[in-house]
Amino acid sequence: MAFNAQKAHFDYQMNCQGCHGPDGAGSAKRGVPSLDDLDRFQKLPEGREFLIRVPGMSRSPLSNADLANLANWMMEEFAGTDGTVPFEPFEEAEVARLRDNPIVDGVVEHRAKLVARLDAVPKS
Ligand code: HEC
Repeated sequence: MAFNAQKAHFDYQMNCQGCHGPDGAGSAKRGVPSLDDLDRFQKLPEGREFLIRVPGMSRSPLSNADLANLANWMMEEFAGTDGTVPFEPFEEAEVARLRDNPIVDGVVEHRAKLVARLDAVPKS
C-alpha cells in the first residue's frame, strides 16, 4: 500500500501518541482504546467510516492528505490479528467527505454499538 511511513509516524507522534501511546496500546484508565486491531473496522462500511469520523481523527489539525496517509499507515501498523480483511486504501477525497461529518455526541455509545456489530460479522 502506498503511504509515507516516516511522515505518518511523525504525525502520529505529534498528534495521537499523547492519548494512544507510542505503540497504540491506549489507556483503559483514560478510556482510550487500544489501536491493536483496526482491521476489524473494515468489515463494515460504517466501521471504515468510523475510523475517520472519530473525533481524534476528524478533529486533528492534519490536512486531509496527511490524515489519509496516517490512516493507511495505521491500518498496516495496527492491523491486528484478523490481518486478512480486504480494504481499499483511504483517499484524500474520502477522508475530506467523512471529516465533514464527524461524530460529535455519543461517541462512546456509537462505538459500543458498532463494535458489537463488527464482532457479529462472520469470518469469511
Ligand atoms: C484526547 C485524546 C485522543 C487523541 C489526541 C486522539 N485520540 Fe484517537 N481515540 C481517543 C478515544 C477516547 C477514542 C475512542 C472513541 C472516542 O471516545 O472518541 C479514540 C478512537 C480512535 C480510533 C478508533 C479506534 C477505536 O477502537 O475506537 C482511531 C482510529 C483513533 N482514535 C486514531 C487516532 C489518531 C490517528 C489520532 C491522531 C491524529 C488520535 N486518535 C488522537 C482518544 C484520542
